[in-house]
Amino acid sequence: MTADVLLHLDNGVLVVAMNRPAKKNALTAQMYSALADALAEADRRDDVRVVLLHGEGGNFTSGNDLGLFVNGQATEHPEAPAATFLRAVIALRKPMVACVCGHAVGIGATVLLHCDYVVASDDARIRFPFVDLGLCPEFASTLLLQQVVGRNKATEWLLLAATIPAAEAHRAGLINRVLPLETVAAEALSVARCLATKPRQALMATRGLVREATAALVRDSLQRETVVFDTLRRSPEAQEIFRRFLQRAPVRTAGGQGAATQFEVL
Ligand code: COA
Repeated sequence: MTADVLLHLDNGVLVVAMNRPAKKNALTAQMYSALADALAEADRRDDVRVVLLHGEGGNFTSGNDLGLFVNGQATEHPEAPAATFLRAVIALRKPMVACVCGHAVGIGATVLLHCDYVVASDDARIRFPFVDLGLCPEFASTLLLQQVVGRNKATEWLLLAATIPAAEAHRAGLINRVLPLETVAAEALSVARCLATKPRQALMATRGLVREATAALVRDSLQRETVVFDTLRRSPEAQEIFRRFLQRAPVRTAGGQGAATQFEVL
């Protein structure tokens, strides 16, 4: 197990921490593998009843490490670590709680759509940056985001790719609760512990029934997104954007219409 992902068991709650703070917890291939393994183990083990996902160092995660896209590692290949992680999240039969502080970008935002309860600090900032990166959204977010927040809001968030403050994400229904930074971790653990005390079979059955209602649609959406994502990721437009981010150069859209980096919508 890499130190970039930390695990500990607390009263039936498997606490999974993304731990690469110097890079805002950007996810590497090794981290995806470690996360996928942790979730598969959580699913198997009787002493794990709930998973709690959070990020160390003040941020949830800045999403996929953009270096992975440039190096030609096909993150969407079925055997790729990112794809293994997506499958492990979707296959998990136990509830997953997310505790979001600071940045939750890319897969850090889309994974929330697969969680059962999301607690965020008031400094949390959510962003679906895919269009600005020359990509399309992933992790069935083109389906699930509109189910959760409505089509207009989902389209706004996905197309404008602006940073969404915690309060707005809470109003729209993506986040269950927003709390001060000082108390958010304790509250997330307390919700997870509460779920861990519930009758196990009933909890898993109820969660399973909720998921099953849209499982086929989620699979279809994931499949369609993967094909488009793969094509876009290889495009010169997207490759140039990744390179510029990694070189810390200002990112511009292909048409030169101003910065394609994040901006605030008030
Ligand atoms: N991939 C690779 N490196 C990343 C990263 C990512 N997704 N996110 C952050 N980093 C790196 C930065 O390059 C920087 O590295 P350096 O210190 O070696 O120069 C370090 O993490 C700190 O990031 P920085 O941009 O300086 O922090 P910030 O507080 O100014 O901004 C973010 C934080 C998250 C807003 C910004 O880093 C960002 O937009 N990251 C990209 C997020 C993204 O588009 N993810 C998409 C995945 S599909």
